[in-house]
Amino acid sequence: MRKLLPLIGSHPGGRSALTCRYRCGDACFHEVPNTSGNEYVGDVIARALSRRSVLRAGAVVGAAAAAGATGIGQAPGASAAPAAPVKKGWEKSRYRQAARGLRFTPVAPNTTDAVTVPEGYAQNIVIRWGDPILRGAPAFDPARQTAKAQAGQFGYNNDFLTLLPLPGERDRQVLFANHEYTDENLMFPGYDPDNPTREQVEIAWAAHGLSVVVVEEDRRTGKLTAVPRHHLNRRFTATTEFRLTGPAAGSDLLKTSADPTGTKVLGTLNNCAGGTTPWGTALSGEENFNQYFAGAASVADADTRAKLARYGMTGGASERKWERFDDRFDLTKEPNEANRFGWVVEVDPYDPDSVPRKRTALGRFKHEAAQPRLTADGRPVVYMGDDERFDYFYKFVSSKRMMKGSSRAAREHNLTLLDEGTLYVAKLTGDSPADQVDGSGKLPNDGEFDGTGVWIPLATGDVSHVPGMTADEVYVHTRIAADKVGATKMDRPEDVEPSPRTGRVYVALTNNSQRGTAGKPGADEANPRSNNKHGQVLELAEHWDDPASDGFAWRLFLVCGDPQDPSTYFGGFPKDQVSPISCPDNLAFDSYGNLWISTDGNALGSHDGLFGVATTGERRGEVRQFLTVPAGAETCGPVIGDRRVLVAVQHPGEKDGATYDNPASTWPDGPGKVVRPSVVAVWRKDGRNIGV
Ligand code: FEO
Ligand code: CA
Ligand code: CA
Ligand code: CA
Repeated sequence: MRKLLPLIGSHPGGRSALTCRYRCGDACFHEVPNTSGNEYVGDVIARALSRRSVLRAGAVVGAAAAAGATGIGQAPGASAAPAAPVKKGWEKSRYRQAARGLRFTPVAPNTTDAVTVPEGYAQNIVIRWGDPILRGAPAFDPARQTAKAQAGQFGYNNDFLTLLPLPGERDRQVLFANHEYTDENLMFPGYDPDNPTREQVEIAWAAHGLSVVVVEEDRRTGKLTAVPRHHLNRRFTATTEFRLTGPAAGSDLLKTSADPTGTKVLGTLNNCAGGTTPWGTALSGEENFNQYFAGAASVADADTRAKLARYGMTGGASERKWERFDDRFDLTKEPNEANRFGWVVEVDPYDPDSVPRKRTALGRFKHEAAQPRLTADGRPVVYMGDDERFDYFYKFVSSKRMMKGSSRAAREHNLTLLDEGTLYVAKLTGDSPADQVDGSGKLPNDGEFDGTGVWIPLATGDVSHVPGMTADEVYVHTRIAADKVGATKMDRPEDVEPSPRTGRVYVALTNNSQRGTAGKPGADEANPRSNNKHGQVLELAEHWDDPASDGFAWRLFLVCGDPQDPSTYFGGFPKDQVSPISCPDNLAFDSYGNLWISTDGNALGSHDGLFGVATTGERRGEVRQFLTVPAGAETCGPVIGDRRVLVAVQHPGEKDGATYDNPASTWPDGPGKVVRPSVVAVWRKDGRNIGV
C-alpha cells in the first residue's frame, strides 16, 4: 500500500543544508538573479494578449529573418509568424506512436538507506567514488587520499551518465560520467571549512569534472563492472586544458592574464546533466559555476558587478576558499575567469588524445543538460535548460549537416557541428484566460495547461539579433540577452529529452518556491502553481514536427506531487493508480517510448527515486516508481537500456550535520566504511527486458 511519509526539512524541495551549500552555493537562499523587468508584469503571455503576443513575438523572428539573420530554423513553407495553435495536432505525429506502459510492481515511497528496486530485479555497484580507473592509480584509501591519487580515480558526486557502444570488444561499452561537485565535509576526516588545506583543495579539483571508463557485462550474473586501465579511460578535472570554440572563442570577454588568447581554459566545474550526440560524443552542462568565484562584491566596475550578479555572483569569500590557492578564482584579480565557465562541454570518448571543447555557440548560463536531435536534413538541434528559478529554456540549431560514418573525416567534421548555427530562447503563451490560472494548480476550463510558443533568435554566428548587444555579448551573457527579448521565466528548467518515438520534447521543471511570492512573478499557464514545491513536466511539439521550427505547441504532461493533492495532474490518467512523484530532474527514454524521470529533492518525505511513465496511448500518465535511493541522495543520470538501467546515486549521506566521522548513510559498503557516490546497474533476474 502507498504510504505517505511526514514532510521533512525546511530546505527547498526537501534538500539538506549541506546539499544546498555545496551543490548550488545556497542558490535558493540568495536573491533570485533574474531581476529583469522581463515578464514580471501581469504574467504576460499567459494573460490576456495571447494572440497578439504571439504575433508580436513572431514579428521579432520575422524581422530577424528579413534581415537575413535566420536563414536557418525556418520550417518548409513556414511564414515568419508561427502558425496558429496546433493543439489538435498532438496525435498526428509523423513518428510512430508509442503505446507501451510499464509492467513492474512499483516501489513504495520509503526512507530506506539503500537502493530499493522492484521485486524480481537485481542490482550491483558499477563504480564508486575513488575507484582507480587510470594506469598507476592506487586503490582508494579515504583516510590518506591525495590529489595525485584522485586524478586517476573516479570523481565525486556522479551525475550525468551515458553509455556508448564499443565495437570490437565483446560485452563492453564506454561509460561517460560527470562529477558535479565535492562535499568536503563528507570526503575528509576532520574537515575545517574555514581552513581547507592545499592538499584538500587540490583533491577537490581532481574530484570534479568528467570520467570516461570502459565497463564490461558479465553475461552469467548480469553484473556490469568497470575495466580499470583501459586505454580509453580518462579523467578530466578542474585543471585539465579545455579549448573554447565557436563564435565567442577569442573574445576579449574571455581573456585572462593566464590566457591572453581567450581560447584555453583550465578545467570544467559543476557539471550537471548532459546529452549524447548522434555522432558519438558526450555533452555535459556546467551549472552552478558561480559558487567557486570569490570577491564579486569588491569588483570595482559597476557594470561588471551587475553582470556577475545576473549569474549569481554577489559575495565575498567562496565556500571552498579556492581563491586562497589560485588567483583565478578571485574576481577582483581575474574578472573574466568566471566567463570561461557556464558552457556546454563536448568530449570525444573514442579519442583518448582529444582536447575537450567548450561550445560558445550554445550560450553561457547555468546549463543543466544539452540533448541533441537531428532535423530531417541532418542538422543537430540541441535543447537546453537554465536551472535557476525564473530562468529560461533554449535551443540551438546548427547550420551544418552531420556526416554519417566513423571515418576520420566524418569525425572531424562532426566535431564542428556545434560551433555554427542559431541560438534561440523560448517564449510560451497560454491559451486559457488569465483568471482561470489562479496559482492553485486548478485546471482551466479547457481541461489543460497548454498553449503555443515561439523560439526567439538571440544570435547566429557573429550576428546578434538582440538590440544593444554584440554577438560575443549574447553568447557570454546569454541570460541578459534573453531578458531583453522577453523570454518566459520558468520554474527551474532542468533536463530535456526528445522522444525517439513521437518527436515530442519533454522538459523537467523541478520546482520554484518563490513563484507567486511578494515581488516575484505569479503563476502562468506553463508554471501554474504558486509556491511550487513539486514541479512539473512540460511536453512540447515543434510545428510541422520540425526540430528547426520557429514555433511550437506545448502542454503540461505532469503536474507533480501527491496524487491526492488536487493541484496534481498525471496526463489525464486516473490519479488513484499512480505513484507520487516530486521534483522531476533528469529525463531519459527507453526504446519503447516510455519516459523515465529521476527526482531531486522529493518534498513528500520519501527518498528520491526513478519513475517510468508512458507518454502516449491508454497508459499515458501512469507514473510508476522503479527505484529509490539511499539517505540524503538524489537520483541522477538514468540510462535506460532494454535489459539494464543505470542510475548515478549522487550525494548519498548528505544530510544536515553529517560529516566523514559522523555519517548519515552507510551506503554502499556498510557500517564503518565511508559513504561513496556510486553508479548502480539494475536488471531483471529472469534476463528479460525492463518493464515489459
Ligand atoms: Fe545540478 Fe539542476 O541540478
Ligand atoms: Ca489551456
Ligand atoms: Ca540535475
Ligand atoms: Ca537526459
